Amino acid sequence: MKVEITPLDKLPQDRGVRVKVGDHRIAMFRIGEDVYAIGDVCSHAEASLAEGEVFDGSVECPRHGSEFDLETGVPSSLPATAPVPTYDVSVEGGTVYLSLEDQ
Ligand code: FES
Repeated sequence: MKVEITPLDKLPQDRGVRVKVGDHRIAMFRIGEDVYAIGDVCSHAEASLAEGEVFDGSVECPRHGSEFDLETGVPSSLPATAPVPTYDVSVEGGTVYLSLEDQ
């Protein structure tokens, strides 16, 4: 299912926005004209990754500092070891869409 989320120009640069679609809690990040979407819930202890700091294509968990790659959802530093989910994002005609498989 493809879900319309927001106009691209409403997404702030270089910081997260939390989006809820059905049962999915998603953190979206705009870097330049690119948009990334990963699971919002940190795989370590459930902090909100949308509240983390963004740098070098990663977001740093605000609670204990694990860095998650925005493209793969894979953490590159402890204490988190498990990846968070990633979501397909597209920008069409200035509008951001998320594609979800099971909704
Ligand atoms: S809650 Fe994210 S690293 Fe601990």
